[in-house]
Amino acid sequence: MDLPSPLHPDTLAVHAGRDDLAGLGVHALPIDLSTTNPLPDVDLGGYSYESMAGGGRPLESGGYVYARLWNPTVARFESALAELEHADTAVAFSSGMAAMTAVILAHASATGRRHVVAVRPLYGGTDHLLGSGLLGVETTFCDEDGVAGSIRPDTGLIVLETPANPTLDLVDIASVVAQADGVPVVVDNTFATPVLQNPLDLGAAMALHSATKYLGGHGDVIAGVVACDETTAEALRRVRAITGGLLHPFGAYLLHRGLATLPMRMQRQQATAQRVARALADHPHVAEVFHPGLDDDPRGLIGRQLRGTGAMVAFRVHGGYAAASTVLSSTRLFTHAVSLGGVDSLIQHPAALTHRPVPSEARPSADLIRLSIGLEDPGDLIGDLMSALDAARADAATAAARS
Ligand SMILES: Cc1ncc(COP(=O)(O)O)c(C=O)c1O
Repeated sequence: MDLPSPLHPDTLAVHAGRDDLAGLGVHALPIDLSTTNPLPDVDLGGYSYESMAGGGRPLESGGYVYARLWNPTVARFESALAELEHADTAVAFSSGMAAMTAVILAHASATGRRHVVAVRPLYGGTDHLLGSGLLGVETTFCDEDGVAGSIRPDTGLIVLETPANPTLDLVDIASVVAQADGVPVVVDNTFATPVLQNPLDLGAAMALHSATKYLGGHGDVIAGVVACDETTAEALRRVRAITGGLLHPFGAYLLHRGLATLPMRMQRQQATAQRVARALADHPHVAEVFHPGLDDDPRGLIGRQLRGTGAMVAFRVHGGYAAASTVLSSTRLFTHAVSLGGVDSLIQHPAALTHRPVPSEARPSADLIRLSIGLEDPGDLIGDLMSALDAARADAATAAARS
């Protein structure tokens, strides 16, 4: 009997990007640390160089030439991620922000279509990059329904994130693509991961990840990756080759290794996040909880677009910044730290940290706390949060008694 086609994502996560290993006589992923490669002769080496500097692939007869142009360990991770994202290919970068920079340079700065439309909310760093004008682009920020009205003749790119950082807002990818009128849409898929969402299936041109988060999953590699078609990949690889934002092979190895457990991690972390969100919603010191699926989903995005609810939770506490600050310094299992998507749980204050550079009108409120749920026991995590919330409530009661 033939293998099912396509293979289940759980199977792909373990096997993708490993086709050449048996031929190399190895079972674990090899790490090629060469910065330079022996050349067969001047002409063939030169042709291979020219192909890769323009964003193409190495010529089989010409070698990889130089690791800023091509590295087989990175290429293996890229092909694995592409399979999981239902894409032709993928291009990896030294960080999520390097990936977003390359996307903006390739679609706006380098094409002369220097206008970008961006759907808020976005990760603070992305908002900052787009608003700064640093890459020579002008950005119109809007909400999901404002995309069509924001597009101009010189719009080269549309940027969105769903679920969005930090309030987990869901954006309807197909609706934005329909409004885009052919302008390429890049979806930051960091929070959903390919386990829960495949933006290319909904018409997006690119799925971008801060691979630093769930793809790596262990908080020990900074990386970014964009899944897309081959033409788009050529434009991105050209930017990468010229500007040098490449991923180190050791990082690529860690990411590829991390992919194998990604579906299992997501399922477990998501189940715990649902329990945490419900427990928070019941706590009297919590004003509001943000987690997909906790409220109504009138557009039916959960199921149609997002095959789950993810492992991120945000909540507002009664008592504003002072109460939030007490909660953040009172947890013992949740580490007070930025970033997300790892095996251990993190807690952070978006307005003070990840979203600090966002203009005040779009910055999250001072009473908002964001959680990244890890693999710990759900009861232990809930207990830790409840004690921290009780500490904030006790502080508020003491302050009220004094005044
Ligand atoms: C949703 C999202 N996109 C992009 C980034 C940027 O990624 P990196 O920190 O890997 O540059 C982050 C970082 O937190 C993020 O949360």
